[in-house]
Amino acid sequence: MPARDHLLRLDGVSVELDNGHRDIPLVRDATLDVRKGEIVCLVGESGSGKSVTARTVMGLTQLDRRMKVGGTALFDDVDLFSLDAERMRRMRGRDLAMVFQEPLSSLDPVFTVESQLREGLRRRERLSPKAETARLSEALQEVGIHDCERVLRSYPHALSGGMCQRVMIAMALLARPRLLLADEPTTALDVTIQAQILELIDRLRHEEDMSVLLVTHDMGVAAEVADRVVVMYAGRVVEDADPQKVFAAPAHPYTGGLLACIPPMVGARPVVLPAIGGSVPDPSSLPGGCAFHPRCVNALPRCTTEDPPLEPEAGGTVACWNPLTREAAPAPELVHNGGSA
Ligand SMILES: Nc1ncnc2c1ncn2[C@@H]1O[C@H](COP(=O)(O)OP(=O)(O)O)[C@@H](O)[C@H]1O
Ligand SMILES: [Mg+2]
Repeated sequence: MPARDHLLRLDGVSVELDNGHRDIPLVRDATLDVRKGEIVCLVGESGSGKSVTARTVMGLTQLDRRMKVGGTALFDDVDLFSLDAERMRRMRGRDLAMVFQEPLSSLDPVFTVESQLREGLRRRERLSPKAETARLSEALQEVGIHDCERVLRSYPHALSGGMCQRVMIAMALLARPRLLLADEPTTALDVTIQAQILELIDRLRHEEDMSVLLVTHDMGVAAEVADRVVVMYAGRVVEDADPQKVFAAPAHPYTGGLLACIPPMVGARPVVLPAIGGSVPDPSSLPGGCAFHPRCVNALPRCTTEDPPLEPEAGGTVACWNPLTREAAPAPELVHNGGSA
């Protein structure tokens, strides 16, 4: 694949929540980039900081005065974090669009779907009312909605969660954004619609050179559409590599653990992967050193005291003192997960 330009570059992004007593780190030193026309999947268990990261790129976290945002987010060389509210508002929906994890809370309950979609479309272009209506119907059909007239006339509360999610996706894509931030966009949808929407996103990145940061906890989705996979844990990026690498030979023990949780159908994975017990730590009580060490089968004494930096490792980057692909691995606690060699 030819080298492509970067559209989004996050460098050392941090988000801290001031809870009145102290600053709680929700995102820590997040570094990642999305090139033009590329789909980057941001994966990790619930509570890893994926949504906060995406909302911060959109300038939404910053609307909460308790949140302190650090680091830089360059969008085509524009520093998003230094934009005033008006400029950011203009970029939102047009240059950057986001599909939220909870569609109902992001659609406006007092307006019909039609008026919300029209507003989305007008951010991009002015059409005659008739051409506008045709575009809206087309946009709904693209996300598998065929009773367009009923849906356009409806208020969000009259629609199912899955239908709202599809309306949100249609609205985000109507403006043909340069960067789509899609936060678990297909979780409430059945597999057929999910496949259709992933195909639509994939088509738009080819046809329109749209870039996508796709947040998902579903490694199967990532395997299907990702050009690159970024793994987040406890607010940090712990691995960043292309999917072949991630699925065939994950470097971070956490990535290995995520893969051990899914059926052995995705790519060629090694036979043994470490299973992970426990859950993502609360940001207010992160373990010292590497935040993953209490759950890690590969942990060394050093991991309890020093947080590893994100460094190049076999074609990707990984933040780990004892990655799976080094000769020291695998550790004796590794369990068989039933995959074939
Ligand atoms: N508005 C908020 N106020 C307080 N804590 C929050 C807020 N938003 C997110 N968090 C906390 O930040 C952490 C990361 O959340 P999130 O980004 O939603 O995780 P993910 O999307 O990976 O599941 C969680 O511990 C969550 O409770
Ligand atoms: Mg989330």
